[in-house]
Amino acid sequence: MSFKPPKGTYDLTSPQSQAWRDVLLVWEDMSAVFGYPLVATPILEATELFERGVGGTSEVVTKQMYTFSDKGGRSVTLRPEGTAGVVRAYLNSGAQGAWKGAYSGPFFRYERPQAGRTRQFWQVGAEYIGVEGAIADAEIIELGYRFITQAGVDQVELRINSIGDPECRPPYVTALRSYLEEIKGDLSGESVGLIETNPLRILDSKTDRDRLGNPPRMIDSLCADCAAHYEQVKAFLDSLGIPYVEDPRLVRGLDYYTRTAFEYIGTGLDSAQNAVGGGGRYDGLATTLGGPQTPGVGFALGLDRILLASGLDGYTHLDAYLVSEMGPEEAFLVASQLRADGVRLDFDAEGRSVKAQFKTARRLEAPVILVYKGADLPIDVQTADGRADVPIDQVAEHVMDYVLELL
Ligand code: HAM
Repeated sequence: MSFKPPKGTYDLTSPQSQAWRDVLLVWEDMSAVFGYPLVATPILEATELFERGVGGTSEVVTKQMYTFSDKGGRSVTLRPEGTAGVVRAYLNSGAQGAWKGAYSGPFFRYERPQAGRTRQFWQVGAEYIGVEGAIADAEIIELGYRFITQAGVDQVELRINSIGDPECRPPYVTALRSYLEEIKGDLSGESVGLIETNPLRILDSKTDRDRLGNPPRMIDSLCADCAAHYEQVKAFLDSLGIPYVEDPRLVRGLDYYTRTAFEYIGTGLDSAQNAVGGGGRYDGLATTLGGPQTPGVGFALGLDRILLASGLDGYTHLDAYLVSEMGPEEAFLVASQLRADGVRLDFDAEGRSVKAQFKTARRLEAPVILVYKGADLPIDVQTADGRADVPIDQVAEHVMDYVLELL
């Protein structure tokens, strides 16, 4: 019998996993640089958290959740997104005022699998809770942007919009609905079905994009406070020198958003899956979850798509490969000593021939090959620059100097 991963999921192994590890390290570093501590929430949550938090009109909740009853008869769901869980964690923590959290992990949506769209996928994300001012939006957008570029994606476009708040959005939605009713003869069945339930979503329909004519725009209907907030977000982005495109049709697929909405588009990717990430403000989410009114803003990025867009290939993370002329038992002890000194190193534990060991070293693209010839002999250190005999207690330093120079 042979097992495959369930449809829409995959095994991540080396060498691709090496590129993942690199990018995750960039994320750990970048989120710490911006002052976001780790927040980790359960992968399994009460279904109601998403029904209430993410919303009953979003496709994510209505069609894509992995929901089942546990042995205690509770309805639980594999998390389709991270924001609802993080806000829940914030509310439970008793924290007050400004609060930050960064996360990284697997998420689940029952979608039609294709390149860049899987049923289990990896997101990194950040949430900045408790701050209403546009500085928080700009900081969040900057963090995502810096991470994406640092991760090697050079073709990225930031798109922003404001989708108003519970004061100015309802009259706009009414106006949009009337407009869509008038042109519904031109629209796909899918869009017509959304006119009543979620007309905003029609604005970013890929099928109907060119058939929409000139629908009313949310940014023209913003109340004074939302308009001022949006102007400030743009002014802060300008002052940071972060380029953006205003996209009045940008809406988001989750119901909790207010005011700022944004997406990072990998312009080199196929347009069906080119959103490498997205986010926005969610000033009403905490109250929806039963907490006090608390503003918040955040984003999540799809790691699978970031890697597709960056074109990073996995490569070995070894500093050195140890080739032993004296068999594996002695190599084992030498390796232990070098690893204790911080050299990322591997060796053959099976007693294969020296020739075979060299072959493995080359396959793994180890920049340094260390040849061990016997207990009292120096190590033969081989690099692209040549070879040198180095006493064992100086090998680690030698390797590190060489590897650092390569960077
Ligand atoms: P989202 O736009 O639903 O937002 O997802 C964010 C990113 O996750 C997408 O842009 C995409 O890169 C990736 N993604 C989503 N679904 C899949 C999939 N099936 N396969 C591969 N990648 C996928 C959220 O999840 C919000 N929680 C973001 C947020 C945080 N808003 C505020 N704070």
